Amino acid sequence: MKAKKVTKAVFPVAGLGTRFLPATKSIPKEIMTLVDRPLIQYAIDEARAAGIKEFIFVTSRGKSALEDYFDYSPEIEASLRRSGKTDLLEVLKDTNMDSGAIAYVRQNRPLGLGHAVWCAKRLVGDEPFAVLLPDDVIAAEKPCLQQMVEAYAETGGNMVAAMEVAPEKAKSYGILDIENDMGSIVEAKGMVEKPAAGTEPSNLAVIGRYILSPDVMTNLSRAKHGAGGEIQLTDAIAEEIGKSKVYGFRFRGQRYDCGSKAGFLQATVAFGLSRPDLRDEFGAYLHDVIAMQKAAQ
Ligand code: G1P
Repeated sequence: MKAKKVTKAVFPVAGLGTRFLPATKSIPKEIMTLVDRPLIQYAIDEARAAGIKEFIFVTSRGKSALEDYFDYSPEIEASLRRSGKTDLLEVLKDTNMDSGAIAYVRQNRPLGLGHAVWCAKRLVGDEPFAVLLPDDVIAAEKPCLQQMVEAYAETGGNMVAAMEVAPEKAKSYGILDIENDMGSIVEAKGMVEKPAAGTEPSNLAVIGRYILSPDVMTNLSRAKHGAGGEIQLTDAIAEEIGKSKVYGFRFRGQRYDCGSKAGFLQATVAFGLSRPDLRDEFGAYLHDVIAMQKAAQ
């Protein structure tokens, strides 16, 4: 066992979610639902499965619905209890966070993902910590962060979730420069945020799950503006290369980019079909839709 246990996770949720306007005019993007659960619930469940005990949300103005979501809801619970709906009470349980387990810190200005993570510096302290980007929803038999925590227990250092993307998509991601490819674990000799088309060092992209050393926070404290004029988490991690190890972890699972409309719709279909209570009816509907489309061609 090389590494310290990871018990804290940072959830950057300060973004305006402009890609989903007008929906995000009055609700945070992270409250938008995949089937019947908000995006943020998937990230929280994944973190819990990985052994996370302290949940740090980096929020901004207009995100109070998130705080309410994780609070107890005495009226709803009393009403469900009165009507004997114990199954729904169970469903609500997953949304409650114990006092002290959850903290909110504000990012006052949208200066980038790196800056958002840095806002949690004092709460994280001198410990390794996880970062989960709720836009990246990952369906997996063993939750992605749990896979990473297990791998990290062997490697230590810093670890980012990684996945191959089509070369023309590389410009939308953080991209790893590979030193040593060991299969599911890759050692990086560089990392570049949103490389210009044709300059990407590989097509192995960073996906929104990270296990980072507190040194990355220190790097963020003196970070300069990077790609897109923003303070980039990728740059602060890349700064560690040469001082400590930075690994990419090829997770087993299917990632959905719920930061895009097409990705959100794909996730909705996949999660709908994976639900025992919806599978038959929804599957039959999709089948009919496809058959009708084919007949119309
Ligand atoms: C962020 C990160 C990027 C990473 C991506 C994964 O970018 O900056 O390195 O590849 O998430 O989803 P964003 O999608 O916020 O532009």
